[in-house]
Amino acid sequence: MRDAIGIFDSGIGGLTVLRALSEALPYEDTIYLGDTARVPYGTRSAETVVRYAAQAAKFMAEKRVKLLVVACNTASAVALEAIRETCPSTHFPVVGVIDPGVREALRVSRTRRVGVIGTEATIRSDAYVRALKADDPAVQVFTKACPLFVPLAEEGWQESDVAALTAERYLAGFRDLGVDTLVLGCTHYPVLASVIQKTVGPEITLIDSASATASAVRDTLKDRALDRPAPAAGTRAASQRFYVTDAHERFVKVGSRFLGRDLAGVITVEL
Ligand code: DGL
Repeated sequence: MRDAIGIFDSGIGGLTVLRALSEALPYEDTIYLGDTARVPYGTRSAETVVRYAAQAAKFMAEKRVKLLVVACNTASAVALEAIRETCPSTHFPVVGVIDPGVREALRVSRTRRVGVIGTEATIRSDAYVRALKADDPAVQVFTKACPLFVPLAEEGWQESDVAALTAERYLAGFRDLGVDTLVLGCTHYPVLASVIQKTVGPEITLIDSASATASAVRDTLKDRALDRPAPAAGTRAASQRFYVTDAHERFVKVGSRFLGRDLAGVITVEL
């Protein structure tokens, strides 16, 4: 039976998306795959990310998921089409994180000047710029790669002086651009939301693509009649399975922080 939602990320960061999904859809079973042997994707070429992502999609197809969430912004930016080719929608729908974040940004922005931050590969791909302009050709987009945010979030240093200095260095420019909306275009950035907000100032609204994606998943499941009805009280809790390709202990330790609860039953696999 096709039952679980698959969530794929390059490593730990996609747990911020799983967290938002579990809050929005508490009855749904999930299968999470973190490609921890090959993280980070954000500094790699598009060709390499496409190859890795297609393997991950194949893994999810073998698990017979009913919908696949590409939680990794980098993979969504450069490999979504390749994933959809590996897993045609007759097979199961594939939801990336870029379109939901873009829709939310355009809903919120009044000045039509939108900032986007992400990994080097995401920013280089121009995927956000294309998606924003496809929905509103008049929008002006300002982008910045912020690669150091990923290790800072994993280290748990989001409240530190180092995080504040790094954020200032990357983001100070956004204060003078008339931008009123800033898309957090990387799985790790919601962890740093507080320092990012302090740096850019209260006039700029941060868009967390994790929660925008959770809403998109809920809508897609409903449209296709794939959603699970609320079970009778006390009958069954949703199951969450976790697969990684390496460094299982680090995933458990750092991942618990990203997920906001303890992680258990993590299985190491080869893709
Ligand atoms: N998951 C990646 C993203 O959202 C960040 C980590 C990486 O570079 O692999 O872009």
